[in-house]
Amino acid sequence: MIPVWPLLLLFSISSPIADATRSSLMKSNAVCSGQRVSIPSSSGAWLPLNHRHGPCSPSPSSERIPSTADVLLSGRLRADSIRRRLNGSAAAAERSDVVTVPTTLGTSLGNYEYVVTVGLGTPAVTQTVIMDTGSDVSWVQCRPCPVPAPCHVQKDPVFDPAGSATYSAFSCSSTACLGLGRRRAASNGCSGSSPCQYIVKYGAGSNSTGTYSSDKLTLTPAYAVDGFRFGCSHADPLFSDLTDGLIALGGGSLSLVSQMAEKAFSYCLPPTASHSGFLTLGVPRVSSSRFVVTPMHSIGNIKTYYGVLLQGITVAGRRLGIPPSVFAAGSVVDSGTVVTELPLTAYRALQAAFTKEMRMYPQVAPKNGFDTCFNLTTGGEVKLPSVALVFDRGATVELDPSGIIFDGCLAFASTGDDTSFGIIGNVQQRTFEVLYDIAGQAVGFRRGAC
Ligand SMILES: *[C@@H]1O[C@H](CO)[C@@H](O)[C@H](O)[C@H]1NC(C)=O
Ligand SMILES: *[C@@H]1O[C@H](CO)[C@@H](O)[C@H](O)[C@H]1NC(C)=O
Ligand SMILES: *[C@@H]1O[C@H](CO)[C@@H](O)[C@H](O)[C@H]1NC(C)=O
Repeated sequence: MIPVWPLLLLFSISSPIADATRSSLMKSNAVCSGQRVSIPSSSGAWLPLNHRHGPCSPSPSSERIPSTADVLLSGRLRADSIRRRLNGSAAAAERSDVVTVPTTLGTSLGNYEYVVTVGLGTPAVTQTVIMDTGSDVSWVQCRPCPVPAPCHVQKDPVFDPAGSATYSAFSCSSTACLGLGRRRAASNGCSGSSPCQYIVKYGAGSNSTGTYSSDKLTLTPAYAVDGFRFGCSHADPLFSDLTDGLIALGGGSLSLVSQMAEKAFSYCLPPTASHSGFLTLGVPRVSSSRFVVTPMHSIGNIKTYYGVLLQGITVAGRRLGIPPSVFAAGSVVDSGTVVTELPLTAYRALQAAFTKEMRMYPQVAPKNGFDTCFNLTTGGEVKLPSVALVFDRGATVELDPSGIIFDGCLAFASTGDDTSFGIIGNVQQRTFEVLYDIAGQAVGFRRGAC
C-alpha cells in the first residue's frame, strides 16, 4: 500500500510513509494514483509528466527496472560528466552533446527518468518522449528504419515523415543546419540542397543520428509549436526501450525552449512513480508570488545548463556557518542528476548538523554511496529536522522530507572539493514546481505542487 503523502506535514513522518518514499521511486504501488494536487485550470501548455518506469508511465517498459543502486550510480556519473563539460574542457564538450554513461548500466538509463506525451506532424502522431534539461537537440525515431539494424521497439507508431503534411528536412546549406555546429554530421559529404545530417553523441560510442528536420509539435490541443526543429533519428541504439525520442529543454539555442515564443518552462517531478507530475511550456499560469525565486546564473561557458547560486543551508531553522566562498562556482539545476552534490565543506557542515539532530536514531553502515545512514525502524514516528537550501537573494527552499532522507540516508553527496560546480538533483526537486524563466533570468521553486 502506498500512503498518500501529507502535503503539509513537514517535519515528522511516520515510518511506513518514510519507507515508501525512501526506498526509491521504483518500489511504488503497481497502480497509478494520478495527480495529488489539483491542476491550475487556466494553464497554457500543461502536460502530464510521468516516471518512465512504473504504473503512471504511458509506455511501461518491459525491460528490467533499474535498481536503486544503478539509478544512484548513473546520477553520479551524469553529475561528473556535467562537471567535466563545465570545467571548460573544450575536448570534453566536443565529445558529447549530452552526458556519458557507461553501457554497463544497460539501456535502462536511470538518469533519463521522466517522460511526456506530445503530438508530432500533421495529422499529429502521438510520441512518448524523455524530458531532459541537460541537452539541446530533440529527436524522435523516424521511418525508414535503418537496414540491417531495425528501429527499436516502441509503443507508439514510429514517426513517418512521409505521412506528415507539415514535415520538411533542412538542407545542408540552410541556416538551421549550419547552426548545428559540431552536431552537424558534415563528414558524410553533406552539401548544398542534400538533407542536413545531425549527430548527437552519447556515452560509450552510441549516438542519435539522422536528418535534421522541422515539423509541427502539438503540446496540447490548444498549444502547438510550428516548425519545431528536431532530429529524425535513424540510429539511436541508446534508448532501446519503448520510448520514442527525447525533448531537449536545455538553455542552448537549439532546444525546444529557445524555439518557443515564451522562453520559460516549469516541471514538477512526482514524489513516486505511482504519481503524475507535470511539465508546463511557456510561463506557468500560477501566480509568481507562489514561487521562491532566485536569479539564474550563467555557469561555465556552456549555455545548456541552468545555473543558480547556493549561498547557505539551514538545519532545524539554524543557518550553518559555511564560508560563502565554497559556493562560488555555482550549481547546476538538473532534472537528470539524482542526488544533490554540495561543496565538500558545505556537505560536512550539513552532515554534522543533521547527525546531531538525528541523534535518537542509531547510525548504520554506509550504503549506495551515502555515508550518513540511520536505522529509522526503531518504532514510532520518524522526526526529521527541517532542511532548507538558501539561494542568492535569500531565496529559501524548505525541502520536502523525501528530499532530505533517501533509503534511510541523508539524501546529499559531496562534490569532493570546494571548487567544483555543485548540482541540484532531482531527489531534492521532487514535489516542487521548478520554474526556469529564461527570459526573466530566474529560477523559481513552488513547494507541494505535485
Ligand atoms: C574541475 O576543475 C576543478 C578545478 O580545477 C577541479 O578541482 C575539479 O576536480 C574538476 N572537476 C572535474 C570533474 O574534472
Ligand atoms: C553512431 O552509432 C552507430 C551505430 O551504433 C555506429 O555505427 C557509428 O559508428 C556511430 N557514429 C559515431 C560517429 O560515433
Ligand atoms: C534497526 O533497529 C531494529 C530495532 O531495534 C532492529 O531490529 C534492526 O535489526 C535494526 N536494523 C539495522 C539495519 O541495524
